[in-house]
Amino acid sequence: MLEAGKTKFQIDLRRYLREDGVDDKLTHLICEIAEASKYIVNSIRTGDLGVAGTSNLYGEEQLALDVLSDRIMRKRLAKSGVVSNVASEETRDVIALSPHCAGNYSVAFDPLDGSSLVDVNLAVGTIVSIYAGSDLMQRGKRQVAALYILYGPRTTLVYTTGNGVHEFGMNQLMEYTLLRRNIRLAPKAGIYSPGGLRNRYSPGVEGFVCYLEAKGAKLRYSGGLVPDVNQLLIKSNGIFFYPHLQGAPQGKLRLLYELNPMAFLIEQAGGAASNGRQRILEVQPQAIDDCQPFFGGCRDDVAKAEELIASRG
Ligand code: AHG
Ligand code: MN
Ligand code: MN
Repeated sequence: MLEAGKTKFQIDLRRYLREDGVDDKLTHLICEIAEASKYIVNSIRTGDLGVAGTSNLYGEEQLALDVLSDRIMRKRLAKSGVVSNVASEETRDVIALSPHCAGNYSVAFDPLDGSSLVDVNLAVGTIVSIYAGSDLMQRGKRQVAALYILYGPRTTLVYTTGNGVHEFGMNQLMEYTLLRRNIRLAPKAGIYSPGGLRNRYSPGVEGFVCYLEAKGAKLRYSGGLVPDVNQLLIKSNGIFFYPHLQGAPQGKLRLLYELNPMAFLIEQAGGAASNGRQRILEVQPQAIDDCQPFFGGCRDDVAKAEELIASRG
């Protein structure tokens, strides 16, 4: 493991992607997304924190920052020249950027996850899922890359292209340099991040929380998917869940924009990601706004959640 401050030379993202054997066009695409994040981080730090006066596909009020981050991402993806279709949590349809761009990539993204945390100045993020070709309605196991950018006290970028999970930090020149390579998850979780209201949990999920409490796991929930998943990956030790709820059998989180990319990253770190009954990456999306229950992190605990849900619901 390389740690910031301990390396003599900083390895930047582009060089690392090349040395990781990532295809040139995919390297270019990931670096363009990294560029977009520099504008998003600036908007978060200094931009308008108010509402936009519009709502998204889920009926949620959009912040000016949601709309701006979405625009920044889309512009950059269009300019990259390697993207055919995009879908964003903040827009209603799949948008064709260059319909004849066969053989390149399509991107599903959540430009600013955790908008409800913006006013209280907690960490938020951008989540990105990349497929080869133009079809975004594929099982998550077909992703060729997934990444998130975490806007916390520091800005970090964590990606996988199917060859492990690697973390980069933004330096004073706004360049991403390697912090950790090949992040690995332990089999058992010592921390847990439970989303959704507990009084709406099913008996199986309630039983799972009791199991975690009984084994002494610590509760660490920020309310932002990106910082919560980042915590379990960087600490190598945790489980995040946003389960099926009474009145919301599909949970809250979105398969295309949030769950598939996080599931790919978690699996690449040696963890597991499930909807309680099935591997997330095997779920065939029916619509771009599909939601699924989610249990992701250390594999023994994801298996325990599945076992309790199978027996108690
Ligand atoms: P978004 O801000 O993109 O709508 O998503 C927020 C998500 C995710 O970050 C978090 O895990 C979850 O919503 C939290 O939901 P609750 O507020 O229901 O806990
Ligand atoms: Mn989101
Ligand atoms: Mn969002």
